[in-house]
Amino acid sequence: MPTRRDVLISSGSALVGATLLPGTAPASEIKPKRASGHTVATSEDAEALSAAVDSEPVCLSDYEALARERAPKMAFEYISGGAADEITLKWNRESYDKLRLQPRIFVDVSKLDTRVKLFDQELPFPILLAPTAYHRLVHPEGEIATARGAGAAGATMVAGMLATVPVEDIAKAATGPLWFQTYILKDRAFTRDLIQRAEGVGCKALCITSDSPVVGVRNRDARANFSLPPNLERANLRGLMRTGGNLRPPEGDIYTPILDASLTWKEIEWLRSFARVPVLLKGVLNPDDAELAIKSGASGIIVSNHGARNLDTVPPTIDILPEVVDKVAGRIPILCDSGIRRGTDVLKALALGANAVLIGRPYLYGLAVGGDAGVTRVINIIKNEFKVAMALSGRPTTASIDGSVIWK
Ligand SMILES: Cc1cc2nc3c(=O)[nH]c(=O)nc-3n(C[C@H](O)[C@H](O)[C@H](O)COP(=O)(O)O)c2cc1C
Repeated sequence: MPTRRDVLISSGSALVGATLLPGTAPASEIKPKRASGHTVATSEDAEALSAAVDSEPVCLSDYEALARERAPKMAFEYISGGAADEITLKWNRESYDKLRLQPRIFVDVSKLDTRVKLFDQELPFPILLAPTAYHRLVHPEGEIATARGAGAAGATMVAGMLATVPVEDIAKAATGPLWFQTYILKDRAFTRDLIQRAEGVGCKALCITSDSPVVGVRNRDARANFSLPPNLERANLRGLMRTGGNLRPPEGDIYTPILDASLTWKEIEWLRSFARVPVLLKGVLNPDDAELAIKSGASGIIVSNHGARNLDTVPPTIDILPEVVDKVAGRIPILCDSGIRRGTDVLKALALGANAVLIGRPYLYGLAVGGDAGVTRVINIIKNEFKVAMALSGRPTTASIDGSVIWK
């Protein structure tokens, strides 16, 4: 039986309406848009349509449902998909769901302190936007809108190397802190230049994607015939395009024209020799690699399975996190991503030792549904859920969130 919400969505009538959360954009800023290809056919649908005017997405999965309707199918498949059979994609969620919380009562939670310190930066709350590619697939302003949305919510955005607008333009639009993510490309001079461009426009940290010597098996992309539409470009890679800015391996090959499958730890030392901001290694899954990351001079690590888009059947990051945290023993900050959808997930990741978390797909769904206001709202929803989780678990400060929050 379809639910009322399914009816709303499948009749193409789900509109973004009034806002409920403090600090979010007024509804008028969120442009209502109907899903294409559907008509209101029955009186029941018409009733659903009028009800939908007042309805709005209230949690991150609501945004996913709306984005499925709104975004071009090829773009939605690209964003939502994982590698191969999507086993890790499923586990990423299941592991968070399985963890149970252990609250305390009669703790004064009338004031909450959600701040965390990373390097010399103070974040008002421990949720960042993970680097993701090609934002103009789902919104004409792409990363510009994302930067505005992140700034309005007070979140740090990690701008991606594979952005569809140059990092200089993202920085101009940004009203909040910006970090930059890059791969170490075969063309080292280009990589160095790109990092210096990002530092030059004020990016305060670098995330080096370390888990992608090749691209994962993406059956969903292949089935949806995913390719970057001709009107969009990998704007940071202008100049590299002649040597092939493409990430797709030639037919019958696994190696892409630009990613370097020969990278070893010495490239991190090379990078450290000129980087002027903290360098984080993104994609650490093994405690031994966490140790090597510290030895190579990394300032931080991101425990990530790339949102389950690379090597299928690796464990969910929340399962690995405690082992990595043990090994690192507080020497450098640890961030964590992949599958975080609820404020309780943020609480769980912090309880198991993460200093902060990142979200990927959810803010892209917000961007697809409501542009910059949609991004802001997605962040505000999960931020407020995190506050509720802190209050109801009796942990008034981020410092007070420890392993005892998890029910043994
Ligand atoms: C559409 C999309 C594009 C992505 N592009 C990149 C990328 O270019 N570089 C990178 O390091 N990670 C990339 N990621 C991974 C994210 O940085 C992050 O690790 C992941 O999305 C977190 O999982 P979540 O989407 O379940 O929150 C991408 C993720 C998505 C969904």
